[in-house]
Amino acid sequence: MIDSVIAGKTHVTHTMIPKVQSGRNIPCLNCFLGNKSKIVFLITLVCIICSYTGLRWYATAKPQVYEKRLPHFIIIGVKKSGTRALLSFIKMHPDIVTTGMEVHFFDRNESYEQGLDWYRDMMPASLPDQLTGEKSPGYYRTLFVPQRIHEMNSSIKLILVVREPIERCMSNYLQHASKNARHGSFASEVLLSNGEVNEQSPHVFNSNYDLFIDMWLKRFPRKQLKIVDGNLLITHPHLVLQEVQEFLGVRQYINEEFFQYDEKKGFYCYFNESEFKCLGDSKGRAHPEISPAVKLKLYQYFQLRNELFFKKIGKRFDWKVNLTGNGS
Ligand code: A3P
Repeated sequence: MIDSVIAGKTHVTHTMIPKVQSGRNIPCLNCFLGNKSKIVFLITLVCIICSYTGLRWYATAKPQVYEKRLPHFIIIGVKKSGTRALLSFIKMHPDIVTTGMEVHFFDRNESYEQGLDWYRDMMPASLPDQLTGEKSPGYYRTLFVPQRIHEMNSSIKLILVVREPIERCMSNYLQHASKNARHGSFASEVLLSNGEVNEQSPHVFNSNYDLFIDMWLKRFPRKQLKIVDGNLLITHPHLVLQEVQEFLGVRQYINEEFFQYDEKKGFYCYFNESEFKCLGDSKGRAHPEISPAVKLKLYQYFQLRNELFFKKIGKRFDWKVNLTGNGS
């Protein structure tokens, strides 16, 4: 037809319109077949496309099977800073699974010698799109741990929870006292007989966050390490969870509605299996008053250490210490 128009011809060929015979509309056979072929062709095409995309999806889709996987993230410490709270809270996320117990794979030689298959077996089963996490607070202060974790996965995400060091010191002491009938007073355990801070005391030692940060930053880029404010975790858990979800690259699912302040406990409780649940009695113990003189000594000691730590991590926490009144 195009040729005819180009040639200036105005006649129309028989293939262009259905034939009309003696006043009756009888669809022409060619046209009928033409339409039918078109339909068949279209159906075939759709089928081919569907099978192709279906096959492609099948070939590329990850099978939705539960398997145990090595962790994508680890909460490495610090003990008594809120590590259990963070683990319990992050577990509410449907795209995250975590261990219940502390695994202590990297800091205990007898576990480490069992190998990565043993470690993987300690993990909960997960779907391919879920993240697996564990927490073992002893990792932060153990010299050979950063290298071991790095050897397993150099791009793993690490989370460190740190809390105002005097509060953490007291928490460490109370934990120790609850397990050891023979223990001294807080002052006698954190100060030497000459009144100076006892740097060898585990309560003090573990609050000195600056001591261990270098060995982690030597192995891992700073952006792989999320440093969480344990004090903010107590007062505004949803804000911390917002940061942690962003760091882990999961959707923002856990929000304010997942937390409820419990007057009796004095802490936030969290939504767990259709009800609000508080952490156990060993979490959130009442802290006795520290004598102002002892507190001042610790404050002066930690102020310096905190500054060193903040400088190294390029971030500071606004930890308030009441040097006159009650509490730490
Ligand atoms: P205290 O018991 O001294 O108050 P970890 O789990 O690392 O051992 O840390 C224990 C600390 O977590 C507790 O120390 C408590 O202050 C803190 N914590 C943070 N959020 C909490 C919560 N919602 N419930 C109970 N304890 C919480």
